[in-house]
Amino acid sequence: MAAETSELWEVEARVAAYYGGVGLVERIEEDLARGFNGDLSPEGARLYGSFHIGGAEAVERLLDAMPPLAGQAVLDIGCGVGGAVRALTRRGALGWGLDLTPEFIAAARKLSRMIGADPAVFEVGSALALPYRDRAFDHAIMLHVGMNVADKRGAMAEAGRVIRPGGAFAIYDIMRVGAGEVTEPLPWAGEAESSFLDSPGAYATAAALWFTEAARVTRSEEGIAFLEALTDPAEPRPISEAMREKIANLDAAFRSGALAPVEMILTRRS
Ligand SMILES: C[S@@+](CC[C@H](N)C(=O)[O-])C[C@H]1O[C@@H](n2cnc3c(N)ncnc32)[C@H](O)[C@@H]1O
Repeated sequence: MAAETSELWEVEARVAAYYGGVGLVERIEEDLARGFNGDLSPEGARLYGSFHIGGAEAVERLLDAMPPLAGQAVLDIGCGVGGAVRALTRRGALGWGLDLTPEFIAAARKLSRMIGADPAVFEVGSALALPYRDRAFDHAIMLHVGMNVADKRGAMAEAGRVIRPGGAFAIYDIMRVGAGEVTEPLPWAGEAESSFLDSPGAYATAAALWFTEAARVTRSEEGIAFLEALTDPAEPRPISEAMREKIANLDAAFRSGALAPVEMILTRRS
């Protein structure tokens, strides 16, 4: 096996182990037993819908920036537990989700079954080896995944392969937007070896063979406000000490202007 391939597998195994160790399926089952009513509207699904800055509203904002989605086949790369796929479905799109972490895919299927949606659209797989044919999708989205992917060019090549010419690739990642120190650990990685932060310019360069850039919006203020609300002592949430430290590091990096959530809309070249 080539050294690069084994390194990649190590990173992917670390990432999946990091995200997968939270007993999510069991938590959903416990909540169901306690009377969780399966409300997967953006309001009801806050707990299960998203692992990114801005929650369900950020998904809706990103989808609003894309071409009309009704009737379109749209892939969510690194879909987590499928909140954005369900948002796509609510817009009349044919939403598909792929994620590295088997536990998230199991949870996504479970949540979809609860609302009578097709659980089969969720698959375990890597952004760097998408298990779909060329031009299988009209569009794709990717939310807070690039921070775990060192090979941005490889991820762009795969997205470019499966999106039809003229289709959109909407990315919402935390990016390096300024100089200044960034203290690890951060929420998307147990250790520095699984965190790969890049600038919007680096994303655009990595994408350039396959995509043109249609829009870019930096959401610094929203990032700060979201973390403030998340850690508001007046509304305590079950957040571990370890995660609190990561959130504090991210908050400092948002406030110093080193990092920010960035939306980027790319268009597949013809
Ligand atoms: C911070 S979570 C975001 C999940 C989801 N997009 C959301 O916004 O709720 C990052 C997700 O990316 C997935 N991921 C990381 N690297 C990946 C890769 N190379 N291929 C596919 N998924 C990946 C993780 O398993 C995890 O579900």
